[in-house]
Amino acid sequence: MRLILLGPPGAGKGTQAKRLEERYGVVQIATGDMLRAEVKSGSAIGREAKAIMERGELVPDSILIGMLAARVQAPDVQKGFILDGFPRTVPQAQALDGMLAEKALPLDQVIELKVDDAALVERIAGRFTCAKCGEGYHDRFKAPKVGGVCDVCGSTDFTRRADDRAETVAARLEAYHRQTAPLLPHYAAQGKLQQVDGMAEMDEVTRQLAALLDRKPV
Ligand code: AP5
Repeated sequence: MRLILLGPPGAGKGTQAKRLEERYGVVQIATGDMLRAEVKSGSAIGREAKAIMERGELVPDSILIGMLAARVQAPDVQKGFILDGFPRTVPQAQALDGMLAEKALPLDQVIELKVDDAALVERIAGRFTCAKCGEGYHDRFKAPKVGGVCDVCGSTDFTRRADDRAETVAARLEAYHRQTAPLLPHYAAQGKLQQVDGMAEMDEVTRQLAALLDRKPV
């Protein structure tokens, strides 16, 4: 399976990519996670990306295309992948088309998670993550079963992303509509674009995605 999950910040791409990764045994490639790891390590890419990400803007195409090109060489990717957060601009999509054509690894599907902007702000503002194992939570939609304790690893240490502040979220939404939404016609023209209702509950979104991926009627 070679899949792109497209959608605005907070649409549920990461949440669903992790579920599909388990279900189909393919790897999630999340460029936001890759960039946050670079920032944490203090690498040259991380130093350049940090301020850009905190402003809610997109990191330059040259950096992202280089990162992705390196990642798709890895042996685990040959079995299949779910791209979460890439591509985000038309030049990134064109570069990806070229990389995959060169390797004779065509994309199977591009699925857009459709969510209203108003719901996205609430989703992002309420998001937090276990600092130890990375499990994602939400104040309202997915709270830990025991308050303050990670369901998966039992840690009591949680983090919130630096770019999840209200003013940054507005900039991220603007970047999505201006730079990423033009990818929808790019993939529609290739006959690969499908949509699911990302406003539905998480399990229902997973069901709709699986129906498309298993090619059953939604
Ligand atoms: P990135 O990390 O990719 O962030 P994003 O696209 O803004 O997406 P998010 O991770 O915020 O949201 P998501 O759709 O994964 O939602 P989630 O599942 O967490 O990018 C961050 C930054 O890195 C960018 O701004 C940019 O600077 C840079 N960057 C990354 N890639 C780049 C690229 N290719 N080019 C240039 N720059 C790049 O869900 C959100 C919350 O909602 C969670 O709490 C979850 O529990 C909850 N939730 C999920 N689904 C539902 C549901 N159905 N109902 C209710 N709640 C739900």
